[in-house]
Amino acid sequence: MAKRDDIEVLTAARLWAPMMESLQGAFRVHDRTHQNDAAAFAAAAPRIRAIAASGESKVPRELIAQCPKLEIISVFGVGYDGVDVAAARERGIAVTHTPNVLNDEVADLAIALVLAVSRRLVQADRYVRSGAWAKGPMPLARKVSGARMGIVGLGRIGMAIAKRAEAFGMSIAYTSRNPRAEAPYPYFASAAALAAEVDFLVVITPGGAGTRKLIDATVLAALGKKGYLVNVARGSVVDETALVEALKSGTIAGAGLDVFENEPSVPAELLALDNVVLTPHVGSATWQTRQAMADLAFGNLEAHFAGRPLLSPVPA
Ligand code: 8YV
Repeated sequence: MAKRDDIEVLTAARLWAPMMESLQGAFRVHDRTHQNDAAAFAAAAPRIRAIAASGESKVPRELIAQCPKLEIISVFGVGYDGVDVAAARERGIAVTHTPNVLNDEVADLAIALVLAVSRRLVQADRYVRSGAWAKGPMPLARKVSGARMGIVGLGRIGMAIAKRAEAFGMSIAYTSRNPRAEAPYPYFASAAALAAEVDFLVVITPGGAGTRKLIDATVLAALGKKGYLVNVARGSVVDETALVEALKSGTIAGAGLDVFENEPSVPAELLALDNVVLTPHVGSATWQTRQAMADLAFGNLEAHFAGRPLLSPVPA
């Protein structure tokens, strides 16, 4: 596609470099000027026709209102809880995201965290490096194969996690807003009811107001002292203060966390705990998947400005 300097795009996050290169090759890009250069943003805002965002980006009503010519918000990520979709819809602004292309990647990481926290992989690595092994064997871990997994949010990624867990001989149950007719797993109406019946509670539900602090002290108490929490969704879905408390007091056995309430800051208390495995929001972070996401996020902008149907608009 030949470069179109007449199409001005605002980025709402630091985007992956190859994605940024595609944007810069095709459009006139204003890199986060709304955050780092108020004068430049004020000058460009009347001409901005697209916002390129990431899954973690905030695109609030106020930002949308500041861009009177805005036509499309393209999210480089499946989650778009940071975008005020209602405000966009009111103005007929399209919102797109990158579903499906990252299902496998996020599901792989969920399983990796289940294994890492229960088999104490990170601690085991430290055990070898520190020379502790010479003094005796490591304490025993918790078996994963055959254990009970509960999935909070059985969407596309939830199903990919379930498929992998089946290969481990795990039993699977789930909770979500509504039962999924095609899912062959038992449904629980609440996260607490599900937590009480499983060994591993894996959270992969969309973020946003509807799921804020869904995993609270009650759910953690139901998961119990032998239970593990894994979160590959959004930090907002878990009450982080309650989680720290539950991990410190032994209310639950441990947690594997890829997402946090206030990224990139992680509570010091979590960092100090030995029964957690922490990763820096890397669910989709491989070259292969990020490329597929970039192709889709960029492809949505290309399609829009060429007058073709969007590849992956967010659901109505
Ligand atoms: C990415 C994500 O971290 O897809 C999502 O919703 O949170 C992730 O895949 C993100 O969008 C890239 O910055």
